Amino acid sequence: MTGELSRSAMPGATGVVDEDLEAYETNYQTHRTGISTEECIQCYNKTAKKYEENLNPSRYRGYVIAAEAVETFYGQDKSARVLDVGAGTGFLGKELEKRGYTNIDALEPASEMLRLAAEKGVYRSLYCDVLGGSEVTIPDDTYDVLALSGSMGEGHIQCKGLAEMVRIVKPVRGNIIVSNGDCFLLLSPDQIPILVDD
Ligand SMILES: C[S@@+](CC[C@H](N)C(=O)[O-])C[C@H]1O[C@@H](n2cnc3c(N)ncnc32)[C@H](O)[C@@H]1O
Repeated sequence: MTGELSRSAMPGATGVVDEDLEAYETNYQTHRTGISTEECIQCYNKTAKKYEENLNPSRYRGYVIAAEAVETFYGQDKSARVLDVGAGTGFLGKELEKRGYTNIDALEPASEMLRLAAEKGVYRSLYCDVLGGSEVTIPDDTYDVLALSGSMGEGHIQCKGLAEMVRIVKPVRGNIIVSNGDCFLLLSPDQIPILVDD
């Protein structure tokens, strides 16, 4: 799967150092133009075991930024009900646990990623589901905060997922927090330039 694409064929890869290029390509392949939801989930299932090595803290800290934002809004309320949307292997859940949060659930469609997230022991409920397809099984107005790190983009959560997020977040004092590399948002034609903030 990796080694197929040259640096110039991958937007955003120009400044990537050689030793990071294979990891960059694995991540890029999951966001490539035209990728379907099913193909994206399959990619993550195949590469789940290497995910934390590929996106190690020297390369990726989207989940730290998301956790900081949760603290900005819920610094005084460590029992706030949080859904980690597109939880992957649980980087964000672990980061929130470190900061004292105790009431965290995970939603993640790639079963291999979710299995690794479950092993971290930080999530109360785990949902293996796609956000943005049919309605997920979570009732209306459930969460104080939905937190997403790196889970929007081509083949990932799309604009149409926003309506479902609004349905399950509490209407009063609820927040949806998105921490996402803007290059992945801008790669996708349907996607979310509207969310990209300079
Ligand atoms: C780059 S990973 C980020 C994982 C984790 N949030 C982190 O910060 O490490 C993107 C994750 O989004 C998930 N994902 C993709 N499409 C999704 C969808 N429609 N609904 C929910 N999660 C999705 C993928 O399976 C993958 O685990």
